[in-house]
Amino acid sequence: MKTRILQVLRQNQGEYVSGQELCEWFGVSRTAVWKAIKQLKEAGYEIVAVRNRGYRLAAVPDILSQSEIASQLQTKWLGHDIRYLEEVDSTNAAAKRIAETSNGMDWHGIAIVAGKQTAGRGRRGRTWSSPQGTGLFFSILLKPEIDPNNASMLTLVMGMATVKGIAEITGLHPRIKWPNDVVLNGKKIVGILTEMSAQIDYVNHIVVGTGINVSQTRFPEEIADTATSLKLELQEAGRDMSVSRAQLLGAVLMNFEYYYEIYLKTQDMSGLMEEYGAMLANCGKSVRVLDPLGEYEGTALGINDRGELLVDRGGEISRVSSGEVSVRGIYGYV
Ligand code: BTN
Repeated sequence: MKTRILQVLRQNQGEYVSGQELCEWFGVSRTAVWKAIKQLKEAGYEIVAVRNRGYRLAAVPDILSQSEIASQLQTKWLGHDIRYLEEVDSTNAAAKRIAETSNGMDWHGIAIVAGKQTAGRGRRGRTWSSPQGTGLFFSILLKPEIDPNNASMLTLVMGMATVKGIAEITGLHPRIKWPNDVVLNGKKIVGILTEMSAQIDYVNHIVVGTGINVSQTRFPEEIADTATSLKLELQEAGRDMSVSRAQLLGAVLMNFEYYYEIYLKTQDMSGLMEEYGAMLANCGKSVRVLDPLGEYEGTALGINDRGELLVDRGGEISRVSSGEVSVRGIYGYV
């Protein structure tokens, strides 16, 4: 009930909605509506009530809760089972536990969202700083019928979804640092960690975990020079705007669903690589490829249909695949 009332108030964009209308739409008593409004106010929503006019949503603070998230979701299937946890070790670990312990349950498309992670995981065994209320930390659990060799491209698909979602909600234009990061003004704003359980030709489950820096103003020392947040970048752009994590999540999931369905048709990036290229921060830049078989430099050109980064080494084009190597900018992080 709370979720549905919230949706109606939001759809009316600050206009009054009468209590009577709410009762009729939802087939409940005035007292039930009043109670739901009271709970929403207690949760921090600024709702103005005026006799004979009804209720109006005056301001939405950055609340991350089950009903706030559900009221922002417009996907066809992704995240329809969405689980918000105030605190968890890692949303990736929580998603994995669901896949491994929920026999017979259809968990494809579940999303786990956390207010705080106590053991947020980054790539290559690193940690992901996840203090309460600062970032958007979430994982989606998937069981696609694909060749396990094609799974790593889901990281690229999520990269595109976050770039698009951030642009829609904030008007900022981040770009992708192939393959796992999204950057703004040369600093990292999103990290993606895709983990898979598979047999040689069969995917048991895939977890795509994403951390978006939303309102941090400080970062741990080791990433202070390379990380930024939406809040810092909006301030830098002279924009006084607070970002709703639930709204941002809704936009990212919507875009992921869209791009994922295109990816799934061919199980590769052929339908997405052009748009991906336009989002790529490395494009046309000099990069150093840290290949265990020997480091080299070149100019990043874009990706191919396998999601490999194409690097021009003076006429010879190398294909860099994400598992094996890391790519650095020569003149900085990107
Ligand atoms: C990286 O850049 O190293 C990847 C970071 C991925 C962080 C996210 S936060 C939500 C999800 N849960 C985790 O434990 N990690 C991912």
